[in-house]
Amino acid sequence: MADQVGVEPVRVGLVGVGVIAETHLAVLAERPDVELDFTVDPRSTGPVVFRGATPPHYGGLAGALDAHRPDLIVLATPTETHADLTVLALTRSKARLLVEKPLVHDLGALRGLDGEAGVRERVFTAHHFAFSPEVDWAAELLAAHPEWGPVTAITSAFYDPYVLRAPEAVASYVSSWMDSGVNQLSMLTRFVDLTGLTSARQFDGGASAWCTVGFRSRGEEGSARLRSSWLTGSSSKESSLVLGRSGVEIWIDHTAMTGFAARGGELVAAFGNDGRTGRKVAHYRPLYASLLSDRPDPVLGFDTAARITAIHLASPAAR
Ligand SMILES: NC(=O)c1ccc[n+]([C@@H]2O[C@H](COP(=O)([O-])OP(=O)(O)OC[C@H]3O[C@@H](n4cnc5c(N)ncnc54)[C@H](O)[C@@H]3O)[C@@H](O)[C@H]2O)c1
Repeated sequence: MADQVGVEPVRVGLVGVGVIAETHLAVLAERPDVELDFTVDPRSTGPVVFRGATPPHYGGLAGALDAHRPDLIVLATPTETHADLTVLALTRSKARLLVEKPLVHDLGALRGLDGEAGVRERVFTAHHFAFSPEVDWAAELLAAHPEWGPVTAITSAFYDPYVLRAPEAVASYVSSWMDSGVNQLSMLTRFVDLTGLTSARQFDGGASAWCTVGFRSRGEEGSARLRSSWLTGSSSKESSLVLGRSGVEIWIDHTAMTGFAARGGELVAAFGNDGRTGRKVAHYRPLYASLLSDRPDPVLGFDTAARITAIHLASPAAR
């Protein structure tokens, strides 16, 4: 085993202490290689307790960076604040950044970030759905069975129960397509090469969407249908991949973190879990393991975020 003596912990600054920050804190607290340097939120939140201690808290990132030299800044703030806070962190610190998804809320902000020095080396996006266990399982299954041929069609439906708290959901997540579309797209990059948004419609004041996306799989073109909506009483997220040549279908349930593959009436593979790990921790634990490794997964990198954003926000009809 490597000698850990003398290895400095990664000093983390957490910006935005809302819902998803709880998952970041839970996963960071598990890791002996990190310490929480400070937290930031203009809202008066309760003290953030991390391993029994309360790190200094600030009302703004600029003030925190006057007093700290973090190695990693985690931005877990409302989507429309990501771009400005990313520029601030890039220019006022030397830290790497983990920005919550989606990286930006519009293409102008993406272009602005693209011109920032160090963006490719320092900015990572928390495309957490790409790390979900059932996605991992299905990607490995596909890779192990080239004889099944290309994926020819995909259907994905993501529902979140935000209908009763629509104003707050809109403030933090903008719309169901802005929030879930990026999860659907980053998840699909594990299976196929996305080529572009082919249609986009939003309904219910942005609370629902129906979009189609083209892709290539094993040299052939296919199409994905993406449904998302907040008009529901509970969270439910599923995707199905059809491999039309072989008749194999792969169903993955992202809520239950389960999956199966079938051909006609035959079950060809199945995946379950031991029920011990909550869904968000199951996503963010491998995400942080990858981010803090020597070679972070490219799905976290700026170029992937730029490609996904360009598809996600391609059509004016999608806005
Ligand atoms: N909630 C989820 O399940 C989830 C999952 C994955 C990703 N995300 C993404 O994470 C981001 C935050 O989502 P959330 O659900 O935690 O939202 P939230 O509204 O619960 O929390 C956001 C927090 O950021 C704070 N904030 C606002 N402006 C700030 C600023 N300039 N500096 C510091 N703090 C600021 C707010 O006061 C709030 O406490 C969004 O981009 C969302 O898409 C959320």
